[in-house]
Amino acid sequence: MPPVLDVELRRALAARVRYYNELGIYDFYRRDRAGLESPESAPAVVWTDSSALIPTLPTELREEMPARKPAVVPAVAEENIFEISTPKPEYGVSDPVAALKLIREDLGDCTRCKLHKQGRKQIVFGVGNPRAELMFVGEGPGADEDAQGEPFVGRAGQLLNNMIKAMGLRREDVHIANVVKCRPPGNRTPERDECETCSPFLMRQIAVIKPKVVVALGAVAAKNLLAINAPMSELRGRFYDFLPVGARSSDPSWPGARLAVTYHPAFLLRDPRQKGEAWKDLQMVMKYLGLEPPKKAAE
Ligand code: URA
Repeated sequence: MPPVLDVELRRALAARVRYYNELGIYDFYRRDRAGLESPESAPAVVWTDSSALIPTLPTELREEMPARKPAVVPAVAEENIFEISTPKPEYGVSDPVAALKLIREDLGDCTRCKLHKQGRKQIVFGVGNPRAELMFVGEGPGADEDAQGEPFVGRAGQLLNNMIKAMGLRREDVHIANVVKCRPPGNRTPERDECETCSPFLMRQIAVIKPKVVVALGAVAAKNLLAINAPMSELRGRFYDFLPVGARSSDPSWPGARLAVTYHPAFLLRDPRQKGEAWKDLQMVMKYLGLEPPKKAAE
């Protein structure tokens, strides 16, 4: 079994590789795995504790490291960290429309995970303003989205539209995408391998759009964007600093986004009593973006 890295070690390594990428270094060589796996030469701390790595990071990258939360340490496969060193077609393309087109072309008629042979009609890439300040990320397309090729167009989408309107925005002002771009059969939750295969494309989309705020809709989006495995009650109610893992922004003036977590609209359809809580999350985002709810028409 390949070794599994804890989230903070993974983030520390990702930050380190990003730092080298910014210096123009893309090629990395791994030391012999046999040596690393021997208990004598590789103490357990290497795989479970990122603290040993942090002092070697530049100060500005060190500050990206979140406080340790042992209760929410997820397991993340090792391979992704090294994938981030591969230059992507959109690197150096400053026009987000062109860059998103290049990512879509790179995705192609994707067969990278099993969802491609489980009844998807089409890939649902993303929709909206390519320069949006606000981006919503859901879980994966449902039947309506699969049929129309656009995220959030079914019942949950109607509710999301209302949420966007209540924030004083229009659907075309924001950007909307999902963690997986193909419909999971029967609308089941996307599986870990499917998310891990597809989310690098989402990370690249976010790096191109450079939003000020990303709102993760539901636990699947939150877990995949933040690499944190925690219940919604712990994830909501605060901002996280978010830099897309493995993706490179060509804009030094984009330090990353703030990320907020709220309930998935489909959950709110099932339990409308939670709409007030979701509204609190959106108000936090509105305050940060300087948005006012639309004025009600005079009665
Ligand atoms: N649910 C999602 O998570 N995404 C969609 O696009 C539609 C429903």
